[in-house]
Amino acid sequence: MREIVYFSRSAHTSGNFNDLMKAGRLDIVCHTVIASFFTSHSIRQDVRLHLIFYGPPDPLKHLEIVSQPELQEVISKKDVGGLIKRMLYKYKKGQKIECFPGCYVEKKSLIAVIEGLKDKQILLLDRRGKDIQEIGLANSVFVIGDQDGIPQKEKKRIFGMGEKVSLGKETYFASQSVVILHYLLDRKN
Ligand SMILES: C[S@@+](CC[C@H](N)C(=O)[O-])C[C@H]1O[C@@H](n2cnc3c(N)ncnc32)[C@H](O)[C@@H]1O
Repeated sequence: MREIVYFSRSAHTSGNFNDLMKAGRLDIVCHTVIASFFTSHSIRQDVRLHLIFYGPPDPLKHLEIVSQPELQEVISKKDVGGLIKRMLYKYKKGQKIECFPGCYVEKKSLIAVIEGLKDKQILLLDRRGKDIQEIGLANSVFVIGDQDGIPQKEKKRIFGMGEKVSLGKETYFASQSVVILHYLLDRKN
């Protein structure tokens, strides 16, 4: 399973939004979801995506989307925003809810999510990290920041659990970073 964590400090944490760009840049989240799951003609069958939202009005939301055959019925490239909205609406305090097949929502911090994945190699995507070509990518979790990157406090904690890796000198969009990761992993397979 390819495991990706995307962190957004601004993404809206309730379902009552209309404009993705005004909802803490949920448009960027949607691009990241599309890059994580979709190729031109199919849905990837080996991805677990963790979306961590710290925006208003009820911060610390962890949305988890996992590839499985039924996912095709709930996720559409054209309406990822609608899926996120419905997942946020289904949130219930103190519970991890399976909103739809392969789609879960709960309250959980970025660090708590990553601590739960520590049996894997934690790789923090950062332009200033070690060249990704020099690192074995098997059994890894890839942590990607939003338009402002990962906050320093969280970065230090994650760095203590893993390693910073770079895709090169350019600064890419989060969604482009996901595409590059998939490409590298596809080539290895
Ligand atoms: C638009 S970038 C964020 C730019 C932000 N100013 C920063 O300094 O992190 C979004 C995310 O993509 C990932 N990213 C972008 N370019 C990268 C690169 N060359 N190597 C590794 N990760 C990269 C990082 O995780 C980054 O937080």
